[in-house]
Amino acid sequence: MKRVITYGTYDLFHDGHRRLLERARALGDYLLVGVTTDNYDDSRGKLNVQDTLMRRIESVRESGLADEIFIEETDGQKITDVQKYDVDTFAIGSDWTGKFDYLQDYCRVVYLERTPGVSSTQLRAHSHGIVRLGISGSGRIADRFILESKFVSGVNVESVYSSQLASAQSFCNRHELARSTSNYDEFLESVDAVYIASPHEFHFEQACTALRNGKHVLCEKPLTMSFQDSEELHNTAEKHGVVLLEAIKTAYSPGFIRMIAIARSGVIGTIRDVSATFTKIALAGSREVVSEFGGSARELASYPLLAIVKLLGTDLVGLEIDTILDPTNRLDLFTKMHLRYNSAFATATVALGAKAEGNLVVAGTLGSLYVPSPWWKTEQFETRFEDPAHNKKYFFKFDGDGLRYELAEFVSLINSKETTTTFKLSRKESLFIQSVLDAGNVALLSAPNTTESIHVIASIPAPFT
Ligand code: CTP
Repeated sequence: MKRVITYGTYDLFHDGHRRLLERARALGDYLLVGVTTDNYDDSRGKLNVQDTLMRRIESVRESGLADEIFIEETDGQKITDVQKYDVDTFAIGSDWTGKFDYLQDYCRVVYLERTPGVSSTQLRAHSHGIVRLGISGSGRIADRFILESKFVSGVNVESVYSSQLASAQSFCNRHELARSTSNYDEFLESVDAVYIASPHEFHFEQACTALRNGKHVLCEKPLTMSFQDSEELHNTAEKHGVVLLEAIKTAYSPGFIRMIAIARSGVIGTIRDVSATFTKIALAGSREVVSEFGGSARELASYPLLAIVKLLGTDLVGLEIDTILDPTNRLDLFTKMHLRYNSAFATATVALGAKAEGNLVVAGTLGSLYVPSPWWKTEQFETRFEDPAHNKKYFFKFDGDGLRYELAEFVSLINSKETTTTFKLSRKESLFIQSVLDAGNVALLSAPNTTESIHVIASIPAPFT
């Protein structure tokens, strides 16, 4: 019996899939079909797969063309599968020509002509339309965002807004966008959604105007400069039935999500301590160290606080801060935020003018979990135990600089019929992060102006006492 094998995602099962399976089957007597898992798709940059894995398997089964269906989870699996299933022929569409020649050492490799004019990508765009996105801001993060947006299907960046028209125009030309403007209302008219990457102090007003006009908003962190403003944004989004997502990219990346799930699953016991560090040597004169809205906590603490709220929740019982201020402008340069919970502690260490090892350590009653630097781009972590024989390492892919994950989540929420919110970063978690930043800021404002290190006790943020 001649055995043939083929692989695919089979999202929104279409005629191209059916014809490929028919021809693959005709190459032998028995057809094995590998269907990719969501995680594997994520790692390959297929970020907007619409059907669930079960649905996709079901579609292949319903075609009646597969004799056996299995799951493809990892790179390199094909070599093992070909040997395990004693395969004679590997078949795949012509869009992959040459890519699987390495399998010729194990079986015959056939590239079948792809059916023109149909693809899951096209169908996804068709069923929802393409989200027309505008970017507010034309700085470095906006540049990176455009590059990353190419990896997310169902969205097209069309325009850019900047209060400086020349800067908007040069950004627009650089990225071949359709429009640039320095008029915010005009900017909003031509888009369905906006990504706000302007300086922090403009987030609130820009996001609020967009939400009130029924536009979905993906907004850089920190969402606003105060808890009240952030709460108002969330309420406005809810009222208008649109998506508001805070762009803390780590929250949406597969490795981080998995790490949180493992830490909270009891594998390392009850969590007693979380220590998360994020530091950066900022360029002299850069906005981060000059603007009154900068400083290490506002610029960087969203990441450690994200890990802390995900691991320990929002029931805070104490908040204290150690910091070293820049005496010329009172911006915090090296800051440690100590969060106390009923049965656990957490420390967020951030700095703009110093370098520490940027790792994340979670201490539990049975073991620890260690994520090496840069933990916010989670590619690997390890659970560690008293007996090192039980240690276990986990590996993931973190593609590009990760902005694609937040954008993919944003687009899928926009397209979702059921919900405009996500478990990956809930409203409550986003507001918790904001309120800790706020409380810290208020406490620091009352601190003496000195070059010596300062210790302040912050009031526990009101909604979380
Ligand atoms: N295929 C095909 N003709 C098409 C579309 C897909 O022959 N018009 C083949 C692919 O070459 C592959 C298999 O069907 O061998 C499964 O492809 P998959 O990646 O699931 O489908 P696409 O429609 O290409 O998906 P996407 O647009 O997400 O890349």
